[in-house]
Amino acid sequence: MFTKEQQLIEEKIKLFCQANDIALAELKWQPIPFAGEWGFATSFFQTVANEAKLGKGNKVPVPQKAQEIATQVAGQIGSVDGISRIEAVKGYLNIYFKTSDYAKKVVDEVLTSKNNFGRGEKKSERVMVEYAQPNTHHSFHIGHARNTILGEVLARLVEFAGYETIRASYPGDLGLGVITVMWIYEKFYKGQEPEGVHERGQWLAKLYVEATALLEKKENETPEETAKREEYDAERREMYRKWDAGDEYVRNLWHVTREWSLEELREILRMLDVKMDVWFYESEADEPSKLIVEELIAKGIADDERPQGGAVIVKIDEKLGLTKEKYRTNVILRRDGTTLYLTKDLALAKIKFEQHHVDRSIYVVDSRQSLHLQQAFAILKLWGFPQAEKCYHLGYGFVSLPEGAMSARRGRVVLFKEVYDEAVKRVLSVEAEKSADIPVAEREKIASQIGLGALVYSMLSVDNNKDIVFDINEALSFDGRTGPYIQNAYVRANSILKKAGVTSNELRDASYDYELTKHEIELIEQISQFPQKVQQAAEEYRPLVMASYAYDLANTFHSFYHAVNVMQTEDEKTKNARLQLVMAAKQTIENALRLLDIQSPDVM
Ligand code: ARG
Repeated sequence: MFTKEQQLIEEKIKLFCQANDIALAELKWQPIPFAGEWGFATSFFQTVANEAKLGKGNKVPVPQKAQEIATQVAGQIGSVDGISRIEAVKGYLNIYFKTSDYAKKVVDEVLTSKNNFGRGEKKSERVMVEYAQPNTHHSFHIGHARNTILGEVLARLVEFAGYETIRASYPGDLGLGVITVMWIYEKFYKGQEPEGVHERGQWLAKLYVEATALLEKKENETPEETAKREEYDAERREMYRKWDAGDEYVRNLWHVTREWSLEELREILRMLDVKMDVWFYESEADEPSKLIVEELIAKGIADDERPQGGAVIVKIDEKLGLTKEKYRTNVILRRDGTTLYLTKDLALAKIKFEQHHVDRSIYVVDSRQSLHLQQAFAILKLWGFPQAEKCYHLGYGFVSLPEGAMSARRGRVVLFKEVYDEAVKRVLSVEAEKSADIPVAEREKIASQIGLGALVYSMLSVDNNKDIVFDINEALSFDGRTGPYIQNAYVRANSILKKAGVTSNELRDASYDYELTKHEIELIEQISQFPQKVQQAAEEYRPLVMASYAYDLANTFHSFYHAVNVMQTEDEKTKNARLQLVMAAKQTIENALRLLDIQSPDVM
């Protein structure tokens, strides 16, 4: 935010070092947290190290030499607009602002940039984020919700940090699970079709459970039961064979049922305000992946053991010259010529880079698939794929239920839609008591915003590496570290501004030339950190950084709200300055919430 001042000072330091033949290292600036005044600092230790490498260090100890340079530089800079003083301490150059200037600068910056406050400079890299890629013919559960929310927030962060961003989905639309659902549909439910997007998706999930029960070997089966099961299984296998052979009828059945799933997925993405740019399907990666297998064999990377009755395999560790087991040996083409999940990921990577010209590709996928993705990236590297090292896996922990792991096969899942409905119901019942004055239609909209806010934040406030035991009461709690707590800070800021009759971000001539209270200082400091947090969260692929920041900002605002009575501020100029600060806080909370895929209701 203070790049102008920083650049000016940097220029001066460079000139000084050039003139004095000092091998200046790249300057790294850090903010100085408030202790009577704000500022920023840099050190000269790296520069001294550079000097030493050039044999110019003579015998002076590093700290002393760094301090010498800092002192000389400080003496040279002279006066800079907006800077109150400059000092050299222990090898550091500390640059301080006049407090009122700093405060005004922060607030003005937010109010002029508005929705763009915190947006990073445009960067040249194009980044693809792949997420929201459940398997079709099931219903969208709370584990998929964690994936989708993490992926969307990462995409928003990367985009806001300044990268051109492409959002991609890769639903798994083939395999035995899919055929199982098609088989039972064809056998017992042909022609049926529930009304409603969610109902249809949930129905498919039910069919899957039922089919699994019919096809699974049970203990103490009677001979008739065994025969029945085997007959069903043969039918399923036959359907799979037909699907593979491109049989028109089966392919059509597949398209229709797949569309039911995808419609539900698209509806949920709409609810979560996710706008996908590209859709890849696992089935579409199948053919291209076979060509890659041929190439891998031709290059001697894959071993074709089919003549010996085996499959096509890649001995990854051996080919990479690793002596310890890391990636193991993997089948990439079965004996019968069918590809595997791994094979298709090779084709997908190629499509991503070649068709969409991305520079970096991030995969948001459950940590249990970590080895799988590392294997895929390793094979890409062996293959000589130029961007193999530009593929990153952002893993996340497993979402389970208090009673154990979720299982689509057993029907033991908590569906996203169920939780959403429950969330809305709970908020509405609170609102019916507390906000009876708000019209019903609006109350419903707010309930959806708050319910989703609670659910979404509960998925973001846990480090992505940690597992989540999903507890609906915890996820839908409105107190403490929650989405609604942050939304409430926004609502409070909004209500102060409404009372004061300030509706837009109109810039008034406010000055912070009075004795700022501790709460104002803390709030200004929090606001000023937002742009850095955006960069940090995007560079480190850590939505949690932004989730924690948003909570801290809201918390600081709540304290400010209780401690400083803006409306009753006597002095008109001070009151204006405070109102502006509230506007800036409101805008920053809104921007942070938007990055977290959480809406900011005006009232609640
Ligand atoms: N459809 C897969 C699943 O539900 C996730 C896909 C992950 N992405 C990938 N490129 N392999 O497990």
